[in-house]
Amino acid sequence: MSVNRSVINVGVIGCGHWGPNHIRVFSEQDRSRVIACADLKEGLLERIKQRFPSISTTNDYTAMLSDDRIDAVIIATPTGTHAAITRDALMAGKHVLVEKPLCPSSTEAEALGRLAQAHDRVLMVGHVFVFNAGIIELRNRIIAKELGRLHYFDAVRTNLGPIRGDVNALYDLGTHDITIFNYLMGEEPVAVSATGRCITQTDIEDVCFTTLHYADGTLGHIHVSWLNPRKIRTLTVIGDKKMAHWDDVDPNDMLRLYDKGVQEPPYYDSFGEFNYLLRNADVQLPAIHRTEPLISQATAFLDWITTGNQQGPGAKEGAAVARVLEAATQSMNNGGAICSISHSPGRVGPVVSASMDVVAARTWVRGTEADTTTGTTMPAPTHYVSE
Ligand SMILES: NC(=O)c1ccc[n+]([C@@H]2O[C@H](COP(=O)([O-])OP(=O)(O)OC[C@H]3O[C@@H](n4cnc5c(N)ncnc54)[C@H](O)[C@@H]3O)[C@@H](O)[C@H]2O)c1
Repeated sequence: MSVNRSVINVGVIGCGHWGPNHIRVFSEQDRSRVIACADLKEGLLERIKQRFPSISTTNDYTAMLSDDRIDAVIIATPTGTHAAITRDALMAGKHVLVEKPLCPSSTEAEALGRLAQAHDRVLMVGHVFVFNAGIIELRNRIIAKELGRLHYFDAVRTNLGPIRGDVNALYDLGTHDITIFNYLMGEEPVAVSATGRCITQTDIEDVCFTTLHYADGTLGHIHVSWLNPRKIRTLTVIGDKKMAHWDDVDPNDMLRLYDKGVQEPPYYDSFGEFNYLLRNADVQLPAIHRTEPLISQATAFLDWITTGNQQGPGAKEGAAVARVLEAATQSMNNGGAICSISHSPGRVGPVVSASMDVVAARTWVRGTEADTTTGTTMPAPTHYVSE
């Protein structure tokens, strides 16, 4: 499977809102160059040509797939097209990085995984938040049992737009949080309940409230909306030892660890004496080496191609997300009923090993200038694109 060339030639399919970020990131890597891109819209291709004159353009992605110079393709087209384009690319012998969600059907996602294996090609899914330095740090703290037993997750991902016409807010935005929950838990949920409301369009939910139920009782709640006045990207994790709060749009304090909680009094005689003791101690701000997750994702994709060793989320993780989306859709169609996930083979993770995470957090440093050996000095904020 490995590519012997020192530079991997990349083609990007889909040059709308997100595709150009991949063009930029893979053009800036020493180990890759973007030589072609495809989109159905001529105007978008013109814009790419102006910005990247050396990149050839086409509105027929199959022509790009028959170009033997291209080793790998990035697929950044609408969700409904992912499966067919991924299949065509793998059959043409290309390595594939496909945007999230891999596809809406878990059966199809699993089939794509088998196809990639049969063709000995990489199939990586753009679950970009597993490359987010704050989420990696949070996972390391959870693995180290710093938060204790986990009780629940609460994620909020809102903004005013962009409103999509092909998938609802859960498929579009909630996919990220499902991925994060599975990554932090190291397994997929056993049941899901969801409600949503179609406001701007008749059949597409603009706002969704979804609860993931894990086997040990841990709950994960996701509130997503593109009809909200504020851009919020937060996750609160409650454990029996500590609590954590991650805020992706906070330029300074991306992750906070609260030494807060409750405990039963050791001894009491009557109900009148019974009172939970509140523990309200320090708040810790871990030093986070901020990196651009899209760059880390691209690095992992190139590493996976060159070494042949899995370096990030693949079809298995994509299928796990699709199973949640399928169950959530079923739940929404049944008034928010709890729907079990029929095929839940247990652990989906870790998609990146714990030891690798620590290395990654240490070495994927770009643009930080502070002393990051203590938890008190904050790295200089680095601005990166984030959905
Ligand atoms: N990881 C993230 O944070 C993130 C952020 C935004 C979008 N995305 C994902 O990226 C994908 C694209 O999203 P977007 O916002 O750029 O959508 P978009 O609608 O702005 O762009 C999609 C582009 O794909 C093109 N396209 C459609 N069918 C095609 C085909 N057969 N051949 C060539 N081009 C074709 C369209 O013309 C369009 O320009 C989606 O899967 C979305 O979920 C991921």
